[in-house]
Order: sequence, then C-alpha cells, then structure tokens
Amino acid sequence: MFKIDFSNIATQHPMDQLKNESLDALEKLLNKSCEGSEFTGWVDLPENYDREEFDRIKKAAEKIRKNSECLVVIGIGGSYMGAKAVDYAMSDYFSSEKEIEIIYAGYQLSSTYMAQLLKYLEDKDFSVNVISKSGTTTEPAICFRFIKELMDKKYSPEEQKDRIFVTTDKEKGALKELSNSNGFESFIVPDDVGGRFSVLTAVGLLPLAVKGINIDDLMLGASEARNDLTKKDYEDNLALQYASFRNYMYRNGKDIEILVNYEMRLKYFAEWFKQLFAESEGKDNKGIFPISCNFTTDLHSVGQMIQDGQKNVFETVISIENPQEDLVVKEEKENLDNLNYLAGKSVDYVNKMAMKGTITAHVSGNVDNILITIDEINEKTLGYMIYFFEISVAVSALILGVNPFNQPGVEEYKKQMFRLLEKPGY
Ligand code: PA5
Repeated sequence: MFKIDFSNIATQHPMDQLKNESLDALEKLLNKSCEGSEFTGWVDLPENYDREEFDRIKKAAEKIRKNSECLVVIGIGGSYMGAKAVDYAMSDYFSSEKEIEIIYAGYQLSSTYMAQLLKYLEDKDFSVNVISKSGTTTEPAICFRFIKELMDKKYSPEEQKDRIFVTTDKEKGALKELSNSNGFESFIVPDDVGGRFSVLTAVGLLPLAVKGINIDDLMLGASEARNDLTKKDYEDNLALQYASFRNYMYRNGKDIEILVNYEMRLKYFAEWFKQLFAESEGKDNKGIFPISCNFTTDLHSVGQMIQDGQKNVFETVISIENPQEDLVVKEEKENLDNLNYLAGKSVDYVNKMAMKGTITAHVSGNVDNILITIDEINEKTLGYMIYFFEISVAVSALILGVNPFNQPGVEEYKKQMFRLLEKPGY
C-alpha cells in the first residue's frame, strides 16, 4: 500500500549517526519531552479522537448537503489546506454531476475574489464553515464579515443557525464568542494540535464529510500509519528513514526538496506538504526549502533547472501504482505523428516510463531521489500519507534542532501590515 525506494540517493555515506538521531527524536516526540511537546496531540489523534464530535460532524455534513448548493470554507494556512488537498485529490477532473460545491475563501486578500464570490453566492443557497484556531486571523475574519453580511440579507437569525458552522478553540476567542451568542454549532480545534497538523480534526473533517468523502476511511488510513510509524525500529519505520535521509542530504548541501507528482490530483496535497514542512522546519536560519512540481508538465518549465542548475536539490516523488482510469493508444494507418510505436501501450504506462526516465536523468545530474509509491488514491492512502508526512516532519525538524510546532516568523508580516493599517497598539 505504501512503500519507499531510497536507492536513488546518489551520494552514499554511513547513516548510523542519523539513525540514532531519528530514534532519539521519535522517542522524545512519543514521550512528550521534545521542544513544543504541548502541540503533539496529533500523534494519537487517529485513535484518540472525540467520537461524539465525529458523529456531530457527520450529522452537520448531512444537514449542509441537504440544504445547500455550496459550502464556503473560510480559513487560511492549516485551517484550510488539508481539506483542500484531500478534496482535490478525491475529485474528478470533470464532472457534470450536481454534487455540492466546496468553495475555499479567506485564505488571501484578493478584493476581486471576494467581490466575485459574493456575487456568485447571491442567488445560491449556501452554508459556511468558518475555521480559525485563534479566531483572530485577519484574512478569514475579513472574509467572514462580508459573507455574514450577505447571510444577514438572505437568511433569518434562526435560519443562520442551520447554515453557519464554527471550528475554533473550545472556549476562547472571537469566533467562540460569536458562536455562543448566536447559537451557531461549533467544533473544536484541540489545544494540543497546531493548525498545520489539524486536518484529521473537525478542521479538515467537516468540509470533507460535506464533500462526501469517507472520513472513517481517512482516519483508518491514518491509524494504520500510526501503527507502522511510531515503531521504534529504524529498519521497519519509513518515517524515520525519510526524516534521516532528508537531514543527510541537508548536511550534504541539498537544501531544497521538490515534492513531485505525476498525477495532478495531488497538486493541492503538495501545497499542504509545503506548508507543513516550511512552517515546521524553516526557523533559526535552518531548514530544507520545500517546493513542488507537477510532472511531466513542469519538466517543460523548471526541468532544465533541475537537471542542469545548482546541485542543491533533491526530489521526493509520489507515484500512484494504479490510476483511477487508463486508456490505450491505438494504431493509426497513416502514422503521421510517428506514434505507432506506442500502439497497444496505455497512457499510464507512458507516464510511468516518463517517471522512470526522469528519475534516471535527474539522478545522473546529481539530483537525489526518494520514490514513494502508493497503490491508488483513496481515503485510506491519503490518510496514511497525511500521517506519514506529519510524523516525518516532526522527527526531521527535531533532528535539525528546531521546534517543529511553532511559527514565530509568521508574526513579522502581520506586525508590519498592522502598523501600516494603523491597528491600535502597532
Ligand atoms: O499551522 C499553523 O498554525 C498556521 O498555518 C495556522 O493554521 C494559520 O496561521 C491559521 O491560523 P488560525 O487557524 O488561528 O486562523
């Protein structure tokens, strides 16, 4: 179901020290003696989640699916990226079926996006899930003001109770107060789970359940990963190996990691990955810069740079063994495009050969490669990968010597923005 090939790491050196460092990091993570240990609630989440809230999430999702054409999910960073990643990975590229539409908003400050969204929603029946752990983040707060104004025009206070769902801290913050005073149903971001580790809480689960995604299977996949990846056995634990190899490459001057997919449905999964790794590792003047590429598309844009540019890059490829659909190339009499050599071969086979060829080419250009293979994209494999990357980044950041669970640098832009906006106190 989930395997990794580390054989294409070009430079080979003894890994013993990193093995021990990864085991030590895992030990500290599990016994909660690492830096930031107050935010390690996600480690046991696949088993120890609130079953009563899980049922409420399913009921709320049912209600929204019945009374709404769209769900507007308002949140930024960890408060929307996980849901969007799984939603996009599980969606057909083209569909004429009248499924409920999930619209993400409040994750940027485009006035055009906001204005056009309000127009789009004017004649639609819609619900809102506003998500913010702190309850004070500017982007979602501004967005919610506008959406609430539209709701006030369209729906009575009683009707709004069936349409506004709040996901926030269990007792404090502006959103919690708002839901208490208006009687909006609220869901919890647990105290010990930070935003970017929160996809398996109500933060990700409510929008995904509304989309019709099987959240039981998502948790099941994560739970399988937890069984596999909390083992204190380096040879049998792929997260420890991945975290070690990343640090090994970092110590050898490779400070950029490209998460590569050959299936565009993983495009937003890569966005989630980038946020998880960048906010967890990029501090104290350290860190591997995470970027992403969709191949083969990007082989025709940044492929040149990867092959022949600076040698500070390694790739982590996610390969899907079985695509959701496949097509076979047919023989053509005229063969004007000279493609008859592919007759009888499937498009996915061509994609796989592109992947194999690219790995060979890049490795020969001194771009190390880690190859992750999953059998197919479904809720279970996505749940597994979510947990895999979460535990990997925690171990990796601890090896690096930084606190994986804070994000002090994010405050800097806010301070400068508030100063310019003349917010009191700045
Ligand atoms: O990972 C994190 O903690 C951040 O990316 C947050 O999720 C993001 O800043 C949004 O914060 P909040 O949910 O408090 O609005």
